[in-house]
This record gives sequence, structure tokens and C-alpha cells, in this order.
Amino acid sequence: MNICSVTQENIPEFAHLSTPYIQKEYLVDGEIRQWKGNLNSVFSPIAIKTDSQYNNFIGSHPLMDETAALETLNAAVNAYDNGRGEWPRMTVEQRIGCVKHFVSLMKEEREIVVKLLMWEIGKSYNDSCKEFDRTIDYINDTMEALKDLDRISSRFTIEQGIVAQIRRAPLGVVLCMGPFNYPLNETFTTLIPALIMGNTVVVKPPKLGVLLYAPLLKAFQKAFPKGVVNTVYGRGQTVITPIMTSGLVNVLAFIGSSRVADVLKREHPHLHRLKCVLGLDAKNPAIVLKNADVDMAVKECTLGALSFNGQRCTALKIIFVHNSIADQFVAKMATMIDALKVGVPWEENVSITPLPEEGKTKAMQAMVEDAVKKGARIANKNGGIVTDTLFAPILLDNVTPDMEIYTMEQFGPIVPVVRYESIEEAMDYVVNSNYGQQASLFGNNSQELATLIDTLVNQVCRVNVNSQCQRGPDTFPFTGRKDSAEGTLSVSDALRVFSIRTLVAAKKNDSNDKIITQIVKNNESNFLNTDFIL
Ligand code: G3H
Repeated sequence: MNICSVTQENIPEFAHLSTPYIQKEYLVDGEIRQWKGNLNSVFSPIAIKTDSQYNNFIGSHPLMDETAALETLNAAVNAYDNGRGEWPRMTVEQRIGCVKHFVSLMKEEREIVVKLLMWEIGKSYNDSCKEFDRTIDYINDTMEALKDLDRISSRFTIEQGIVAQIRRAPLGVVLCMGPFNYPLNETFTTLIPALIMGNTVVVKPPKLGVLLYAPLLKAFQKAFPKGVVNTVYGRGQTVITPIMTSGLVNVLAFIGSSRVADVLKREHPHLHRLKCVLGLDAKNPAIVLKNADVDMAVKECTLGALSFNGQRCTALKIIFVHNSIADQFVAKMATMIDALKVGVPWEENVSITPLPEEGKTKAMQAMVEDAVKKGARIANKNGGIVTDTLFAPILLDNVTPDMEIYTMEQFGPIVPVVRYESIEEAMDYVVNSNYGQQASLFGNNSQELATLIDTLVNQVCRVNVNSQCQRGPDTFPFTGRKDSAEGTLSVSDALRVFSIRTLVAAKKNDSNDKIITQIVKNNESNFLNTDFIL
């Protein structure tokens, strides 16, 4: 077996996982149930070597069937109860209280979740810690943003003789599905806002990065009323198709490929009743202009292209460099890439770690071979397959439109460079691309930058100047055009996405004034209410 491997003695305590991590539990209707059916084996991209044996089996999780999947859906449907459930009718303050409770319980699981991130998806220790901590910050910021929103809504508006209170109400049952590269963080950036706005949820962890949900089940169970959070595991066609075809899902929150998103959407029988919040494919370009600061552009492009091995939807996936500086740029980038440390997630200062997707290094190699066959040049010395799961990054120079890597999203450690003479070549790429998430511009001439910015903002949703592409800070809007996204996420936007503006209105007259005053004074309604959350 040519897998990235370690020996037990070489694993530091903070990364040591007592294997195998057999997870049979799933959460449905407030109960943690034991799954008695088939389990799916989870293999790490890192194996433990003993004598001449290699073992990368780290655990298993339920492979639920259609009946069990529909039970989780029904639990969410019943908890919502067409808006009459306890959760959707609670006050904002009460829901914030539950989420606060959840955060305190979740924090206790940091160590094991971080370990599982390293073992399941090969994320470095530092990045795994960051993913956990960023998620906690996201939840805390979401609670604050909701308080702000609620404060604005806790007043009446009088317009044309009509008195009204306008708030945001939940949408119903949300199906949350996150991606393997941020299995915790990105799933929670939809799950938490969906919950806190009063929706009930079925969560399906991604294909990779599943075990780390096990330690959180108890926290969900303790913090939320029954049926508000339910978990489903298994093959998409077995568990997700029946959930979608039931027509009972009101919101699909999905971060993954546009191909799968289209399949899921089409499965819903009443398309107009389904709201979609989607984070999809991207091929973010960097455009390095002739007057750019080459050192800074190389540093940002290396970071942007290769953080977490390039497995980020926001990664820089193609770099356009002006002919006049291309030799210098490529030489410097090759040196910087070759200096990146390749190793297992817990090694100090490691940058490039094993890839968790099956067959990924071979797929990377095939893309490189296609490009080289068509005239590209591998510009760095150390790139290529190290083991079945480790791939040292490759800088590909002289990339042209006929190569797969020019248009396909590699989602891995290949950095293609396209040399250009006229800026139109780079701009045409952006216009003709199927994707429209972000772009990075590197240059020093303000006029030139301004002209390009004014065009690019109509093609993508974030233009980064002399900086890599990224999602954060999480308070900034995160979205995309074309095949890259549907809906906008950010701490505050997500609250809006998972709710709908709803109002109670009455013609102003003595008797209506009296009724409304009474409801408010006696605290008779959770919606029609002027309580101010501090
Ligand atoms: O994979 C897509 C993530 O949203 C990227 O987030 O830019 O913070 O790594 P990031």
C-alpha cells in the first residue's frame, strides 16, 4: 500500500485518536438512537504502520435506509408543525438561549472534533483548530446579529393609517448539507442561522468529515427541543432523494457541486415552494498586471492557491500573468511552492497534507499529463505524487485554453499559470467562465485597477485587490454568480436567507389600538411584542 503513513509512537498526544471510532448513533426526534443496520467504513488518508501492516480504518457511521431517513424528516416536520410547533413560536430571546447552551456544550468537544478533522480530511492541526474556533465565533456573531435585527423589529410602524409590526418569521423545514473541505464550519454557517430563525432542521454531514458530528449529537439533544435538529447519514440516493421527493423540505441549504444541487432541486415536486441557499463551484482567477509587486503577488497567490492543498471553493484556481513579468513570477512562485512543507496534519509548519478524496492524486496527475501533452511546463522541481494520498503541489506554466486545467475546477494542489499579452485575454476568461465567485487583481496603477474593478464587479461577487480570494471575514457577504452560488451568506445575510419578512397590521382606530396595546402590555404574543433584547 503506497499510502501516507505514520507509526503509532510518532503520533503526538494532541493528534492521537483511539481507533476505531464506531458511530452507530443518530439523532431523531430528540432521541439518540442506535442504528442497527449497515455501517459505512471510514478510511483516513493517513495510515498507521505496524510491522509490515498499514491500517487507515478509523471508524464507521450509519448507512441509513429510506425509512429511517424519512423518520428524521418527519421529526423535523412535526417539530415545525406548520409553524405551530414550540420552536417556531418561541421568542427570539428563548431561541438565543438554546443556541447559547449549545455553544457551551460544543466547546467541550473541541479536542475530539479537531482530531477527527485531521484524521478524516487531512486538515492541518492549525487549520483544524481554526475551523472549530471560527465556527464558535460564527455562532456567537450570529446571536449578536439576531439581537440587532430583533431590536430594529421591536417597534411599530404607522403608515397611511395602518399600524404594523414587521419581523422575520421562519420558513419551515431546512435540509442542511455541507462540503467535505469545511465539514463543520460551512455546514454550521447554514445550520445555525436556519435554527435560530425558528426553522427545524435535518442535517446530513458531508461524504467525508462525518465522524466529527458524533461528539456533537448530545449537545444538539440537550440544547434544542425534540425534533428541532435531526441527523441523517448514508448514500445521497437512498436518504436524500426520498427526503427531497417528499416535497416537505422548504429550504435546501447545500454547499457542494452545482451538478448535485441541480439534481436535488429537480427532485422537489413543488419547485416554487423550495427556497435554495447554495454555495457551489468556482474557478477564481488571479490577474497579475505588469506593474504588480511580484513578491507580494507570488506570496498571496501561493497562499490563495494552496491553503488546505487548494481544496477551498475560494482558492485561486488559475493565474493570469503579464508576459513582461511572467518569467520572474513563475521562478519565484516555483521556489515558494517547493519550500512548502509536505507532511501529516500534526507536523509543525506543515502546509501540504494528504488528500482525503479517493483517487484524487491520480486525477491530479491526469490533469497535469493532459496539460503537459498540450504544451504546458512543470515549473517547480518537487511537484507530483508522493503517495496515493499525498501530492506535492505542481506549478504549471504556459497553460492554454485547450487544456482541461484551464476550465475545470481542480480543487487540489495544481497551480496553472496563463501568460497573457493583452488584458482582454484575462477579462474574456472571466466573462466566458461558468463561474462567478471572486477574482484577485494584482497591480499598482490606480487608474488601471479602477477600470478593471468596474468591469469585474459585474462578473464576480468579490474583487480582491493585491490580496488572495477568501470568504472571511464572515460578516462580509459571500456569494457568486452563474454556477457559483444562489443566495448570499454572511453572519447577517444568513438570518435573512432563512426567514421571511412577515407583519401584523391593523387599520388604526380606537378599538384596534386598544387590542394591540393590550397584547403588547400583557405580553400575550411572542411576535407582536416590543420587548427589547439587551
Ligand atoms: O470552500 C469554501 C470556503 O467557504 C472558503 O472559505 O476562504 O475562508 O477558506 P475560506
